[in-house]
Amino acid sequence: MKTIQLGSTSLEVSRIAYGCMGLGGSWERTVPVSEETKREAVQAIRTALDQGINFFDHADIYRWGKSEEAFAAIWSEVPKLREKIMVQSKCGIVMPGARPGSTVGQFDFSYEYITRSVEGSLKRLQTNYLDVLLLHRPDPLVEPEEVARAFDVLHASGKVRYFGVSNHTAGQLRLLKKHLQQPLVANQLELSLLHLHLFDEGVVFNQEAMHGEGTLEYCRQHQITIQAWGPLKSGAVITGEEDPPSPAAQNVAHLIAELAQAKGVSAEAIALAWLLRHPAKIQPITGTTKPERIRAACEADQVELTRDEWYRLFIAGRGNRMP
Ligand SMILES: NC(=O)c1ccc[n+]([C@@H]2O[C@H](COP(=O)([O-])OP(=O)(O)OC[C@H]3O[C@@H](n4cnc5c(N)ncnc54)[C@H](OP(=O)(O)O)[C@@H]3O)[C@@H](O)[C@H]2O)c1
Repeated sequence: MKTIQLGSTSLEVSRIAYGCMGLGGSWERTVPVSEETKREAVQAIRTALDQGINFFDHADIYRWGKSEEAFAAIWSEVPKLREKIMVQSKCGIVMPGARPGSTVGQFDFSYEYITRSVEGSLKRLQTNYLDVLLLHRPDPLVEPEEVARAFDVLHASGKVRYFGVSNHTAGQLRLLKKHLQQPLVANQLELSLLHLHLFDEGVVFNQEAMHGEGTLEYCRQHQITIQAWGPLKSGAVITGEEDPPSPAAQNVAHLIAELAQAKGVSAEAIALAWLLRHPAKIQPITGTTKPERIRAACEADQVELTRDEWYRLFIAGRGNRMP
């Protein structure tokens, strides 16, 4: 698998990452991680490793921490693995009822929350450090000075090597950057052929009422790696079945199938190759738990789409020809 440099760091990360949200069993908080669930996690991680993936994405909230817990089963299966891979986690989302007084889902970028969350992730992941910590979703009550203090303390203690964000706009990045000592190395955003707003905002600028902020351009300018979550829109770009149903989903799936057949590769490979073709060096995060689908996704590393193919897919997804 080819690699890219993560943000401004010297980390060489696989250009496709593995998203661990599907590992860990039930989203039901009280159901513990079973041995069977750990075996499934190990199988998925081993498959990802075999495909050359060296970058694994987590969040403290995935299955109430059980995704991180199940992931830790890999350490005893593959000796000396920790130094060979990069582990990223996220913090900042508080699940409803997760702590006394939090009656609704909310976000929290306070010093206490960020540092406590990292302690929890390290414990569940059974590791001494995170390679990357992301702030999960923008907290309107953010105090950037507090984030800066939390990042500095976590970095100085060796618990987190690098920091980034997820679902943040260019303006939110600018605000944080003004206060942070630590560089922001990644912004994880929902991007797929059925979630195109950030690709489209520069195209339809001044034609439709959009509030484009140039987030992709900002990340490119400031060496912030764009990670794409939901690259298959939960399978809809492959199956054409979106909820609610959309002609775009069917058109995208149809065209993907046609290109996959013509090139002799999987449909997943075409969907991810579309993201990889973007000059920003976008890192798709594949989220399937099925070994055969992990392999299918990683075939994207071998696919080069032409400009014409890229635009045909873009137009199928946006449901409209270019202006
Ligand atoms: N930063 C954020 O806010 C955020 C939000 C969501 C996710 N993430 C991260 O991004 C990663 C990827 O996101 P995602 O899980 O939404 O990505 P995805 O790859 O678009 O979707 C994966 C889901 O789609 C299903 N799927 C995949 N291929 C399919 C197919 N051909 N037919 C039917 N279903 C199919 C998978 O089920 P199977 O497991 O059964 O294959 C899985 O449930 C996550 O693991 C997580 O690490 C981040």
